[in-house]
Amino acid sequence: MSLVSADVAAAVAVLRRGGLVAFPTETVYGLGADAANPAAVERIFAVKGRPRSHPLIVHLAEGTAIKEWAAEVPPDAWALAEAFWPGPLTLILPRADRVPDAVTGGAGTVGLRVPAQPLALELLGAFGGGIAAPSANRFGRVSPTTATHVRADLGTDVDVILDGGPCAVGVESTIVDLSRGAPRVLRLGGLSVDALSDVLGHPIDVRVGPGPTPAPGTLPSHYAPEARVEVLAADAVAGRASTLLAEGRRVGILAPRRIEGLPRGVEGLPPAGGAQAYAKCLYQRLREADRRGLDVLLAVAPPETGIGAAVADRLRRAAAPISS
Ligand code: TXA
Ligand code: MG
Repeated sequence: MSLVSADVAAAVAVLRRGGLVAFPTETVYGLGADAANPAAVERIFAVKGRPRSHPLIVHLAEGTAIKEWAAEVPPDAWALAEAFWPGPLTLILPRADRVPDAVTGGAGTVGLRVPAQPLALELLGAFGGGIAAPSANRFGRVSPTTATHVRADLGTDVDVILDGGPCAVGVESTIVDLSRGAPRVLRLGGLSVDALSDVLGHPIDVRVGPGPTPAPGTLPSHYAPEARVEVLAADAVAGRASTLLAEGRRVGILAPRRIEGLPRGVEGLPPAGGAQAYAKCLYQRLREADRRGLDVLLAVAPPETGIGAAVADRLRRAAAPISS
């Protein structure tokens, strides 16, 4: 009797022969390959259409495995790993020699994380090695939070898709750089900045702008649907909607709560709810805007506390004009 499900066994076989497996995590679906196999990792970049210089996160079954992938693990890294793994946190550490250049884009660091999703952990445990995985979408597009999203984006370019249902968190992991002195947050995500500071025992620096390492999630224009996204205050929505409707645009609203007094003709997506519920449905709603053929999505961000900060960050990036 095998303790591993047939789907996971098939996915492991695909990874061992250098293929690609899409799998659920608690944040978004990942497009995975054997992190120790440079040719397999190359395929991820080809399928995503992602520049080779943008590094990938290596997913691990257990926190103790960081010793195999990082050359140095400072005490803060152990403290964060212990407190938040499995969970939506990625640690950037000096890379071990065995990490292929294909994974790090040639950088001296590697991103590591243990996801909190049963199917992902079963896959990682059965595979036994690291799985390099970006979000399972084409470069620059909205991240997938269901297996159906992955199929729609990547189709037959991926060898296996493991279906774990909708992702529980809905936005990507929080990235913390521990490779150069004091810890710094490089990407807001599923784990709040306050939770990090609590464990570190001091406030943590947040630098989510573009940095020396190209990082797609930190480019100003990312996570964008076809519809134009405009982020505005709740009390400005009705007026802006009227203007756009008068111009003949198809307009939709994404907001934490119902907005009263909207002009007729606006497409009301259901209220997104509080920060956590908003995070969970965000990417699905951005896709829904495209499915309905909206020209403009007027978005009201949740309060920027906890995971609400990551939601507001993604809305701003979805709204930034696509320039490069
Ligand atoms: O929640 C997540 O993190 C998801 C799931 C699948 O784990 N993954 C994800 O991967 O969002 P991706 O590739 O879409 O975004 C990873 C981000 C990129 O911005 C990348 O540049 C950054 O992590 N990153 C990875 N390794 C890095 C490194 N060594 N130094 C700096 N940034 C790094
Ligand atoms: Mg991504």
